[in-house]
Amino acid sequence: LLMVLSVTASEDFDWTKTDKGSFYYGTFPTGFSWGAGSSAYQTEGAWDRDGKGMSIWDAFAHKKGKIFFNDTGDSSCEGYYKAKDDIVLMKDLKLNHYRFSISWPRILPNGVKSLHINEKGIQYYDDLIDHLLENKITPIVTLYHWDLPQVLEDKYGGWQNISMVSYFNDFANLCFERFGNRVKYWITFNNPWAAAVEGYETGEHAPGLKLRGTGSYKAAHNMIKAHAKVWHTYDTQWRSKQKGLVGISLLADWGEPVDTTNQKDIEAAERYVQFSLGWFATPLFNGDYPQVMKDYIGRKSAQQGLGTSRLPMFTSQEKSYIRGTCDFLGIGHFTTRYVTQKNFPSNRGSSFFTDRDLAELVDPRWPDPGSEWLYSVPWGFRRLLNFVKTQYGNPMIYVTENGVSEKMMCTDLCDDWRMQYFREYINEMLKAIKDGVDVKGYTAWSLLDKFEWDEGFSERFGLYYVDFGSKDKPRYPKASVQYYKRIISSNGFPN
Ligand code: NOJ
Repeated sequence: LLMVLSVTASEDFDWTKTDKGSFYYGTFPTGFSWGAGSSAYQTEGAWDRDGKGMSIWDAFAHKKGKIFFNDTGDSSCEGYYKAKDDIVLMKDLKLNHYRFSISWPRILPNGVKSLHINEKGIQYYDDLIDHLLENKITPIVTLYHWDLPQVLEDKYGGWQNISMVSYFNDFANLCFERFGNRVKYWITFNNPWAAAVEGYETGEHAPGLKLRGTGSYKAAHNMIKAHAKVWHTYDTQWRSKQKGLVGISLLADWGEPVDTTNQKDIEAAERYVQFSLGWFATPLFNGDYPQVMKDYIGRKSAQQGLGTSRLPMFTSQEKSYIRGTCDFLGIGHFTTRYVTQKNFPSNRGSSFFTDRDLAELVDPRWPDPGSEWLYSVPWGFRRLLNFVKTQYGNPMIYVTENGVSEKMMCTDLCDDWRMQYFREYINEMLKAIKDGVDVKGYTAWSLLDKFEWDEGFSERFGLYYVDFGSKDKPRYPKASVQYYKRIISSNGFPN
């Protein structure tokens, strides 16, 4: 079944150009921005220093049995102490931008602005931003990369509670006030899909709740409202002065029908994307959840005898408040799945995963560097980018994450599979730009090896290898540093 690799026709562009072999020689538009990324909890360490409060990830990782090898982000890359050193690495790569996130509890240890602002936390980000700018590296700043202040989880149930909307807005507003004179690219949420599904449905991520069939929908609903609120705050209070942009970064892996001639598979593959990217992008661009999510979750809820759908609804006022609140779309893309229809009867219990009625498959021939989920399928990237263009009205896109991992035991700095991955994925992105997709920048994920959530330090994404066993966490360039550098300095793949 998985041998079916024929391509589907689309009215919008010539899919036949996506054949799997051809490499496109050419360069990116002038001004295309090349970067690398990180996030606070994954790299900063210093979890309890200089007045920082506890986040849900500090609390979660400190519980035994949650993280591979019981690793924690307590010290991680010691990024908090090594910002200047890391900027030297970025400068050597000739990066145009660096994407990082601000730890909410480092700035507001009690979660709430009215209680206490931690000026030492502000100072850390002030210095980081200043040093980046001195080195002509544009900061792209994420406000929420999963590290909610633990007090807000304890007191209110975190993202299950609508009050997070105004607490998050206060935090964001403070960041605009303190950093917005220098930061022009803001990302409200990073991958809210994972924060909602893995945090509140499967419990694999902090805060580790297993509220099956409802938890992720409720968390996502509040995150979407919080995003819109923060966008409006920026739009009405800061935009005219600061002239920046506010976007979001969404998980956007691609789903391809197993059998492209089978309507059921085509629809299942569409659901795969709508239940991830579409869940968040459709409200922000079109005002409401994807119809297919409303249909499937609504029908299953009715079959389970529930009076209302487990998927919350937006009022018409909320819809118009939420629509159009995305100045640019951040895309986090790693891999592709083949998808086929699979019916999960509603008496088998409710969960986000059974609501979709699909099964995911992989092609055994896809290169797999060792991670359990990340297969290299470059052509899926171009299809995904074209999907974004057609579904959401050709928005401005920044690729906010793209990269590949290797497992812990691998200490080989000669990461040829990563070079291959970058070469092919970046090339598919170039083809997508030729197709007319408005991609403005690319962020290699990630600058350094770092704490990879429930996988701890066992999954390494870095361009730089970090020796976590040594006290001062030295960084060593993998071979892909030279390769990425070459792509950046030639702005693509000149003939
Ligand atoms: C998405 C997350 O945003 C990021 O933190 C993580 O490192 C990558 N996925 C890879 O799993």
